[in-house]
Amino acid sequence: MREKIEEYISNENLMKEIEKLAAKLNEDYKDRNPVFVIILKGAFIFAAELIKRINTPLNVDFMVISSYGDSTRSSGNVRIEEDIRINIENRDVIIVEDIVDTGQTIVKIKEKLSVNNPKSLKLATLLNKPSRRVTEIVPDYSCFEIEDKFVVGFGLDYRQFYRNLPYIGILTEVE
Ligand code: IMP
Repeated sequence: MREKIEEYISNENLMKEIEKLAAKLNEDYKDRNPVFVIILKGAFIFAAELIKRINTPLNVDFMVISSYGDSTRSSGNVRIEEDIRINIENRDVIIVEDIVDTGQTIVKIKEKLSVNNPKSLKLATLLNKPSRRVTEIVPDYSCFEIEDKFVVGFGLDYRQFYRNLPYIGILTEVE
């Protein structure tokens, strides 16, 4: 099996939308010292671009999740490999995710973080694929709504490859 990748969202458009999202967060979280919980591995490039545009004092922590395995379909089998270390009790928390597909990963992450009684818990995602949702999850902040396509690049992978692409591309498997 080989793959073909076709550019879908250019780097320029990604940057424009991330800039807009940062401006919104700068308004909404002014003087609130938020905690950004970055979901690894997929959100690392998005999070880096977003956070350097935030102008209020903030904390950063990471959660390592595995869900997809090697396929292009959500397994629903979500595992938290590594939890955050920061104390988020009574803090304003923003989860930073690469893509919300079925929503099962975010449900699990929210359940886990809620136990620590944050003051607020919001979700910022680079991509939103609402057509495949099997949960009630609606992102609080989202840069792009996309069709039901498997995408890679800008942090997102296929079999752990393509995370380094500077754009978002649609991946198709070809014989
Ligand atoms: P969900 O639990 O179905 O919402 O899946 C969320 C996770 O699956 C994301 O954090 C991604 O790691 C992965 N994922 C979902 N759709 C795609 C895609 O189109 N390309 C790459 N990874 C994806």
